[in-house]
Amino acid sequence: MDGNGRWAKKRMMPRVYGHKKGVDALREVIRACDELKVGFLTVFAFSSENWRRPAEEVSFLMGLFLQVLNSEIERMQRNNIRLKIIGSREKFSAELVAMIDDAERKTAANTGLCLTIAADYGGQWDITQATKALLRHAPEKLESYTPEDLIPYLAMNYAPDPDLFIRTGGEQRISNFLLWQLAYTELYFTDLAWPEFGRAELFDSIAWYQQRERRFGRISEQLSEDNA
Ligand code: IPE
Ligand code: MG
Repeated sequence: MDGNGRWAKKRMMPRVYGHKKGVDALREVIRACDELKVGFLTVFAFSSENWRRPAEEVSFLMGLFLQVLNSEIERMQRNNIRLKIIGSREKFSAELVAMIDDAERKTAANTGLCLTIAADYGGQWDITQATKALLRHAPEKLESYTPEDLIPYLAMNYAPDPDLFIRTGGEQRISNFLLWQLAYTELYFTDLAWPEFGRAELFDSIAWYQQRERRFGRISEQLSEDNA
């Protein structure tokens, strides 16, 4: 969800205004995903590296996160949305951690869209924490570890790998998002800022996705055989 700050600046507004508008965009995208029966929506809200921002912006974002969790939980319940938060919680306030736990617990049995918010998340952090957990769990098998052995310990072990990655804001990079899980994901980049991204723009990205041929290392001719 990139481009909030620049979007606001262009309108002579403070960066945090862009973050507020970003929440509105997220609400619209969640609603559209729900309508389309998308199974999993994962959004990058705050990266491990975003702590490097000016203290006022960081503290505004933390406050916004707390406030949005608090105000949206009812709506999520009503809409059968299951909420998950991935990332390190070590630097969050006790109040925020309690709110996260509460929101996850309350929505755990919901069977609709699974919404994951990545906050203080980094793909490198994820792979490192999973490796530690695997080592702790099965140190004696170290020499025989396979990539599949790591998967149960990754933060998104409850979800399939993403089909489509969308980055708004004009940059064409992953910025330490789901590094492991994006191995075969289709990557979609748009110059639109996140506050400008909504239902119609989501549909455009999905139409683009539908034109991709996903070969997962095979050749084109093999795909129709597989489907037969
Ligand atoms: C994305 O927008 C939101 C967060 C990372 C919290 P930015 O804040 O990165 O906005 P730009 O990229 O500076 O415009
Ligand atoms: Mg940015």
